[in-house]
Amino acid sequence: MLNAAEDKGNSLLPEEIQRYLVGGKFGSVIEYHQSLGSTNERAKELAALGGPEGLVVVAESQKQGKGRLGRTWFSPQGKGIYLSLIIRPPLKPVEISGFTLLGAVALAEAVFQITGLRAGIKWPNDLLVKGKKFAGILTEMKSEQGENYSLILGTGINVNSDPLDFPLTIRDTATSLKMILGKELERARLAGALLQVLEKLYVEYLEKGLEPILQLWKEWNVTLGQWVTISSGTEKYFGQAVELDQTGALLVKGSDGKIHSFISGEVTLKN
Ligand code: BTN
Repeated sequence: MLNAAEDKGNSLLPEEIQRYLVGGKFGSVIEYHQSLGSTNERAKELAALGGPEGLVVVAESQKQGKGRLGRTWFSPQGKGIYLSLIIRPPLKPVEISGFTLLGAVALAEAVFQITGLRAGIKWPNDLLVKGKKFAGILTEMKSEQGENYSLILGTGINVNSDPLDFPLTIRDTATSLKMILGKELERARLAGALLQVLEKLYVEYLEKGLEPILQLWKEWNVTLGQWVTISSGTEKYFGQAVELDQTGALLVKGSDGKIHSFISGEVTLKN
């Protein structure tokens, strides 16, 4: 297997990603690893050491990639983008709900910019094509001294994986951009586009609040209007996903006509 230095044309080396950045803060410093437990964990360590906003950790593979809701994120060598970004929003922690939706919009826009592919967002931040997932986001908060905190926005994208790369347990539900488009993509270019769009949306969020981001999310979403089962903790609820509230929570209308609001959970779409 080629290591990153040999496979320069398709690595996540900082200089490869930074070729696609035009100024800005996000990605101006990138810490690169061939292999890591989890880029989110490493970004949290760096944040605790005072790592600045915009600092990025990338890895060619992860041994303990983490997904949402305690799941693992399958992270094979050289096939995906495993990237975590430190953000230090000048906002109170209660004001940052919905931030994770911003990440999903950025992913959808970056993929569209680079490939022309229109993916759908399943609430809150899964990227799907034909019902199969190729990317997701894990946002974690790291409390620091006093009121300070940082946000770690971790993105996993299956870029150049082939069907047999996936373990059997997810082979029916996971896909990659290569499987969808029938060709390999330059991962660094997509990572660069993602950082650019993330920064653009973040600036917009700080200037105008969450509302414009929620509107964009709705343009990409494949959840609202659908009948869904939502699992949240031990609770399972069936109903029609009708709206987002102003914080990004999903509103689901049950058969009794009552509206339930979910701030986290796993949505299964009834096709
Ligand atoms: C999900 O959809 O469940 C979220 C997946 C997030 C995976 C990424 S890969 C980079 C970063 N590091 C991790 O350990 N997880 C996130």
